[in-house]
Amino acid sequence: MNMLRRPRRNRKSEVIRNMVEETRISVKDFILPLFLLDGKNQKIEVASMPGIYRYSSDLLLKEIESCMNLGIMAFDIFPAYPESKKDKTATESYNPDTFYLKAISSVKNHFPEACVMTDVAMDPYSSDGHDGLVIDGKIVNDDTLEILGKMALAQAEAGADILGPSDMMDGRVGYIRNVLDQNGFQDVSIMSYTAKYASAFYNPFRDALDSAPKAGDKKTYQMDPANISEALIEAELDVTEGADFLMVKPALAYLDIIRLLKDNFNIPIAAYNVSGEYAMIKASAANGWLDGERAMLESLLSIKRAGANIILSYFAKEFAQLQKQRN
Ligand code: PBG
Repeated sequence: MNMLRRPRRNRKSEVIRNMVEETRISVKDFILPLFLLDGKNQKIEVASMPGIYRYSSDLLLKEIESCMNLGIMAFDIFPAYPESKKDKTATESYNPDTFYLKAISSVKNHFPEACVMTDVAMDPYSSDGHDGLVIDGKIVNDDTLEILGKMALAQAEAGADILGPSDMMDGRVGYIRNVLDQNGFQDVSIMSYTAKYASAFYNPFRDALDSAPKAGDKKTYQMDPANISEALIEAELDVTEGADFLMVKPALAYLDIIRLLKDNFNIPIAAYNVSGEYAMIKASAANGWLDGERAMLESLLSIKRAGANIILSYFAKEFAQLQKQRN
């Protein structure tokens, strides 16, 4: 057969395949989400997320150290509060003595070179289980901003490097930026959950934190999975309001949105490979239905290939371990 172009020639050996590989993931691309509990010497596995634990702060420090030894340097810490600490206005979120804020300070004191990200939303502290303030069954936007502002300031005071508003209230990035700047926290970054969809893939996370909404769903603030142009509106607002990074969440079912934001905005794009995406691979691997390691690598690669500069993933440590074994 006479063919001038034979694309298979560039696939004929591992060396050549490596040379022409267009997308590479590195441990430096990751932020590892971690779940925090109150107390001491606690390490409890999340039932729907095999291999992922909720740690008390003493053990969290150990886990962070072991991840740093593998080259993972950025961590997004989420607190699991008991029902007794929750109320309608998420008061516990800005109590300076609360275990979450103390843990953030302690991580930064032990590991100043680590990058600590926090979550700004009411759900872990709210007796309604919503990201915003619920009045007469409605999530009220502007009153929520005041609470988020207090929460953000408390997290900045505790030493957070990056704040992650995940609440999807209108105007929150600008509001939080303003509160930070007025209080001397110009250097604290904001990674906005820009295009956060009302997704079925968050359930294992809500199990981990026991933070599911008590009534209703999150559709009046999180985006409709059917929408694309709305992501551009959200992104434009976040950029104008001072976000340092834009995030798309979930990642795998929204690769088109990652690419869209990458092509349209000149700031770094992050993608959150969420709990349900982790659980799906773990569950099928446990059943022997697919090769978990390969499925993990392929999905992480697809997120990077779609245009994400930063990947938040529960797989970060496993990826780093695999990378180390192979080198
Ligand atoms: C809280 C928050 C959620 C996630 C991150 N921050 C849950 C939600 O919005 O219901 C989900 C993360 C995951 O599923 O891994 N606002």
